[in-house]
Amino acid sequence: MISNNNPIGFFDSGVGGTSILKEVITLLPSENTIYLSDSKNAPYGQKSKDEIIALCVKNTEFLLAKKCKIIVVACNTATTNAIDFLREKYAIPFIGIEPAIKPAALVTKTKIIGILATKGTLNSSLFEKTSNSISKDITIKETIGKGLVELIEAGKLNSEEINQLLLQYLNPMIESDIDSLVLGCTHYPYLIPQIRKIVGSKIKIIDSGEAVARQTKAILEKNGLIKKDSKNGSHIIYINKDKTALKNLITNKSINVIEKDF
Ligand code: DGL
Repeated sequence: MISNNNPIGFFDSGVGGTSILKEVITLLPSENTIYLSDSKNAPYGQKSKDEIIALCVKNTEFLLAKKCKIIVVACNTATTNAIDFLREKYAIPFIGIEPAIKPAALVTKTKIIGILATKGTLNSSLFEKTSNSISKDITIKETIGKGLVELIEAGKLNSEEINQLLLQYLNPMIESDIDSLVLGCTHYPYLIPQIRKIVGSKIKIIDSGEAVARQTKAILEKNGLIKKDSKNGSHIIYINKDKTALKNLITNKSINVIEKDF
């Protein structure tokens, strides 16, 4: 039996989806949460669709065994490759995250938007469908953020290696006159300070974190699953690798981080 007090489950290929977890805890502070950081298998972005689906099934089974009432797929690569499969296979609601190119298309003035995402996201049919649905007079400059997830997972957030990769990926987009930059990977919001230094103040940086939190709330309400009491929720993160890099990203001290193989 699913009860309102059961946790909201989250998973990502690693630590990046905690950028979504943070937004959900801010919007829904009384909800209990369980987050899986599948860092052992990161990055998902270079894997085949079948491999990504198999990892998503493993993560979902773990969260279902913990009695989660809803699952947030806090990973663009997992969402764009596996969410249809998950929704078909399991009865509980899934919330996904997709690169915010539609909101970017609504605000761009130069009609050129940039997107930084993984190969798995940019090559997915769901991403192709979404990009085909936006106006034909808008150009999308797609760039694979190869290597960024690995460096964030390794705790090298403020390293020169990351800076060099960002320069390599962002400068051609700036030269193409983008005025909006979509962060299509949940790891990348942790790079916003470094990205801002490179792109300056005129380019709008867009990520989907808040929108996913609002959607999570709406789906809980629709299904009558909002937690009944207003006591602060409890939060657990399971990580199947060393937790040092993750601990450095998390500022919320009420989150309990546990190393566990899954
Ligand atoms: N956080 C994942 C995403 O949003 C990273 C993907 C990866 O592991 O390559 O796509």
